[in-house]
Amino acid sequence: MRNYKIAVIPGDGSGPEMVREGVKVLEAAANRFAFRLDFTTLPYGGDYYLQTGEVLPNGAIEELKKYDAIFLGAIGHPDVKPGILEKGILLHLRFELDQYINLRPVKLFPGIETPLKDKEPSEVDFVVVRENTEGLYAGCGGFLRKGTLFEVAVQESVNTRLGVERCLRYAFNYCREHGKRKKLTLCGKTNVLTYAFDLWERVFHEVGAEYPDIERDYAHVDAICMWMVKNPEQFDVIVTDNMFGDIITDLGAMIQGGMGIAAGGNINPQGTSMFEPIGGSAPRYAGKNVINPLASICAGGMMLGHLGEKEAAAALEEAVMDICATKIKSLAAGRMGYSTSEVGDLVAARLAAGA
Ligand code: IPM
Ligand code: MN
Repeated sequence: MRNYKIAVIPGDGSGPEMVREGVKVLEAAANRFAFRLDFTTLPYGGDYYLQTGEVLPNGAIEELKKYDAIFLGAIGHPDVKPGILEKGILLHLRFELDQYINLRPVKLFPGIETPLKDKEPSEVDFVVVRENTEGLYAGCGGFLRKGTLFEVAVQESVNTRLGVERCLRYAFNYCREHGKRKKLTLCGKTNVLTYAFDLWERVFHEVGAEYPDIERDYAHVDAICMWMVKNPEQFDVIVTDNMFGDIITDLGAMIQGGMGIAAGGNINPQGTSMFEPIGGSAPRYAGKNVINPLASICAGGMMLGHLGEKEAAAALEEAVMDICATKIKSLAAGRMGYSTSEVGDLVAARLAAGA
């Protein structure tokens, strides 16, 4: 029987509740499609840091490399200074496991309300390929004369030929395999960031020449924000750098109905990838059984697709869509009409029942 070793990091706040429902649905998928998921739960997160004084133990990265995938809840704790856990766990894992792609589908499911007036599910259906290891996130820069009136703070965007090219190649390949319209939009800022996006644009066209079947399109990031609200139907696959990708995918999450459903994958095509809801740890809802677990469930679906369980991934998405269309009242925590665990039960039961 096909067997996958999955590291589960529930993390902080509402992460554990979301992950619990994600695992429930993943198990239903494994039962129906006859494969095995071997889950190992790891305790990393804010509480672990407060208890041990370290964000990750020595050897954690090497240990994680042994898994087929990582299923993450959320990172972020109200008693820990912002930045420590985000950089020490989430970004550290993305960088050290070389998960150079952050794949974020923006898909409005039937029955889900979008703040975009008169937009149908068929009009909000695209994918953002975000570079995930470089740019402003590289941590390059520093202070000069810190704390004085003459203080200087510099934070540089690092864009390497290799990093840009592998991201663009992934995006072209992704578009070829999954794109509905075979159109790849580069999201940049070539009119101002004349070094970084000069490189991106040159490599985009150079690599793009190898993909004559893919239409190449370019838009500045500010214009992309406008089009995502006004005409989201024009997008198929968008590729962009780390910072712009971070920003536009929060906007993307909103137009697909909210953080309650937005999922993403941190992907190393040759290594261990990590799947997560893209919203935060929502500590004020933690432990109340009111948070929406669909983002975690959808992240699980992406993980199955990545592991090669394509049929199971499609069935999971169908089950979520069906529950959204027929049961759930709202994606907002506390307003779903069901508790967190009931939503997990509904999707798991629907998935188990088949078509
Ligand atoms: C995300 C988050 C992270 C990011 C934070 C928590 C470091 O916002 O996954 O989009 O900026 O990448
Ligand atoms: Mn973000």
